[in-house]
Amino acid sequence: MTNILRYDDSAARRLIDNQLYETLQPDLIAAREEMLADIALLGTDQIPAHKQPLDAGFQNLPQQLLDEYDSEQGNSLLGKIEDKARELREQSDRFVVLGIGGSYMGMRALFEAVCNPWHNELTRAQRQGVPRLYFEGNNVDNDSVSALRDLLQSGCQDPHDVLQRWSLTVISKSGGTLETAVGFRLFRELLENYYGADSDESRSLVVPVTGLEGKLRNFSNQKGYSSVFPIPDNVGGRFSVFTAVGLFPAAVMGLDIKQLLQGAADMTQRFVSQPMGDNPVLDYTATCHLFEKEKNVSIRILSTWGKRLEALGLWYDQLLAESLGKEEKGATPLTVVNTRDLHSRGQQHQEGALDKLITNLIVEKSNSDSVPVPVVPENQNQDELNKLEGKMIPDILSAAIEGTNRAYADANRPTADFILPVLNEYTLGQTLQLLMLATVLEGRLININPYGQPGVEAYKVNMQEVLNR
Ligand code: PA5
Repeated sequence: MTNILRYDDSAARRLIDNQLYETLQPDLIAAREEMLADIALLGTDQIPAHKQPLDAGFQNLPQQLLDEYDSEQGNSLLGKIEDKARELREQSDRFVVLGIGGSYMGMRALFEAVCNPWHNELTRAQRQGVPRLYFEGNNVDNDSVSALRDLLQSGCQDPHDVLQRWSLTVISKSGGTLETAVGFRLFRELLENYYGADSDESRSLVVPVTGLEGKLRNFSNQKGYSSVFPIPDNVGGRFSVFTAVGLFPAAVMGLDIKQLLQGAADMTQRFVSQPMGDNPVLDYTATCHLFEKEKNVSIRILSTWGKRLEALGLWYDQLLAESLGKEEKGATPLTVVNTRDLHSRGQQHQEGALDKLITNLIVEKSNSDSVPVPVVPENQNQDELNKLEGKMIPDILSAAIEGTNRAYADANRPTADFILPVLNEYTLGQTLQLLMLATVLEGRLININPYGQPGVEAYKVNMQEVLNR
């Protein structure tokens, strides 16, 4: 039980008529039934037009992957991912991840949440043989691309020395995303210059992760890369963190991907089987929806308590924005990292417009030993911190959380808490799956197809037109 995510929205509920939750319950349960029925439509020609695209494959995928691993071990997708990840760890000391949007943000969230914040600064021994990590292909930024190319060129001169070897993965479901495709050309060129265009290394140290069809799939087939991992048709980009999109790079970085999937599978099971009150997906969706509908609370703040959760928040920003920001509807997501942002956004959240629901993401126990506030001789106590003798950094954080929640409650600002007992692969798996399920559930509730992102195409068409001039 110690690793189970909890959701507590009692503070928010004090600000709204509780009867509304009961009235909403049948609609929520119907939306859940619809999501379960969606699974049965996958792969058939029975998908109604208003449900297309239907990317519901993410719902059961974690359990499917675990079951497949149980029966096929090394021949399963997970087995192959782990083998290839081990090979890249042994064969390279730097690992470049190319991808954008759903092909980037989930992996970044996992990495920042679990790995040492100074990972790239550590020696290979301190990193336990895990390569340094670099993200590219997620923007159009000349200086950033140049800097990484320079780093790889100046730091990697001897391709036979493992400390100077590097590898890359290119992640794109469509295989046609410009930022990633340009990045792939640039870094592939560099890699082939280094190892030799037709060398085994150039085929084994590049790992494409892509859809079953498309430009990148075609190129990979022609090139003969030793491993190409698939992205299933029925899983959309921002829902793909538990496909090879997130799992392969996470495995290279030494994360326990089975624990991630177990957390996600357990959350799906909880969603499917538990009643309101003990079902964080239903409960969170109800609170978000009711405050938006009844109180015009249209800004959803994910208030993360700890630096390691910022990327997870940004992943959620994309998930909510791209899924429900359609037909002039959909709440606006905003991630804050506290206590940092109490010093920047806190004023507005305390006294600005009453249009925000603040959901805290709290980790109860840090992974490292608690650091005490140092006590100094009285003649150096000008900062008066000796009064905190015996207090640890986590005590200060807890006080900040309690103090902030109390201040918001006093000002009639709704808050709720997601509480993770610890931050690890299992609790992360639960959290990410919860947020994906809740996003789809809300879409079904408000009759917005949560899948697809037609609005993203407009800029791409214009950009292409400009480039073609
Ligand atoms: O959620 C989505 O589908 C998008 O954010 C995509 O992930 C993003 O546009 C990248 O697409 P692709 O993986 O096809 O390169």
